Amino acid sequence: MWKTLKANWQLIIIVAAILVIALIEVMKATRPSTNETFSTTLVDSSWIAPSLFTDNKLRGEERELVIYGEDIIANTSRYFGPHGAVAQITNGMNCQNCHLNAGKKNWGNNYSAVFSTYPKFRERSGAIETVYKRVSDCFERSLNGTAPDSNSKEYQAIYAYIKWIGGNVKKGEKPVGSGIEKIPYMERAADPVKGKLVYAAQCQSCHGTDGKGQMSLNGISYEYPPLWGEHSYNSGAGLFRLSSFAGYIKNNMPFNQATHNNPKLTNEEAWDVAAYVNSQPRPSKDMSKDWPDISKKPFDHPFGPYADGFSETQHKYGPYKPIISKQKK
Ligand code: HEC
Ligand code: HEC
Repeated sequence: MWKTLKANWQLIIIVAAILVIALIEVMKATRPSTNETFSTTLVDSSWIAPSLFTDNKLRGEERELVIYGEDIIANTSRYFGPHGAVAQITNGMNCQNCHLNAGKKNWGNNYSAVFSTYPKFRERSGAIETVYKRVSDCFERSLNGTAPDSNSKEYQAIYAYIKWIGGNVKKGEKPVGSGIEKIPYMERAADPVKGKLVYAAQCQSCHGTDGKGQMSLNGISYEYPPLWGEHSYNSGAGLFRLSSFAGYIKNNMPFNQATHNNPKLTNEEAWDVAAYVNSQPRPSKDMSKDWPDISKKPFDHPFGPYADGFSETQHKYGPYKPIISKQKK
């Protein structure tokens, strides 16, 4: 007996190790989740992005375009950043920094509802916008740059990709988990001072004390994208509105930790850190042509003039409830 044990000691250790790991996994799986009451109250999304591996209807030139389009969304900087191979027309961020998994992630500002809802009328421009116009907006605002020519191969590829991604969504429909979630408003104004503490505890390790992010070793794109400063999104970007910022980070940040069903920030923390980040310096954008009908400005659009008499400060930081109830009347 002892002899066989001794001869097989390596095997015994391996088996014992496997048993211990299995036991730990079983214990983890059976432990009641601390978020149980929270997660059951949330509706999750059922939209699943199409996959290039299984979509065998997508063939030939169209397939090539979609693949190219996905790569441009994921690695925009390689094509259009300060060292871009096609043109040097953006701040070096990637579309994917804000449209996670190349716009495939539920609650991660995905593209599921783009093809089904555009062209559509948008109050910001006061006009019917095509997918091209909407994409150009993100080039000019979120990427603080200029949009590529809409006849270029790159633009056709982005369009083909967005069309393919939303191909399983019926015209006019918006899957749950598309775009950015609207999180509940606070009674008070969002507070940059409190937000600074949240930033230091939850964000700074990746995005940096100065918010400038961290360049990859290749010097072409960001490992951790900037949140403010000259290489960040400009004041005309969607994320400059606190509700968009707060909704995006609540479901997605800290990166790879927070999820829709298991967020790491409370609503208050999300609003406060949004206030902190969006009170830091960043490039500005001429928005004189935006919101031709000023009564249609969103409650948290931080630039006047307004039709409702509330100040720019209250529009930016809140409290929003009085603004919203007045807008409803
Ligand atoms: C700094 C963050 C950021 C970056 C980078 C960014 N976007 Fe956006 N994008 C947004 C936000 C915020 C919205 C508005 C989402 C909402 O309100 O639900 C948006 C909206 C869009 C929409 C409309 C979505 C819809 O459902 O109506 C499209 C299309 C889009 N972006 C494409 C792009 C493309 C293409 C790029 C890269 C060239 C890009 N974006 C880069 C933040 C960003
Ligand atoms: C573990 C590292 C990490 C932490 C911690 C983290 N982030 Fe991020 N963040 C990322 C990465 C990586 C991306 C880009 C994701 C991609 O490109 O796929 C990102 C993207 C973003 C973006 C959109 C792009 C941009 O630069 O504007 C915002 C906004 C953001 N993070 C805010 C936050 C906030 C606020 C916190 C703290 C609550 C936070 N992040 C914590 C890694 C992190």
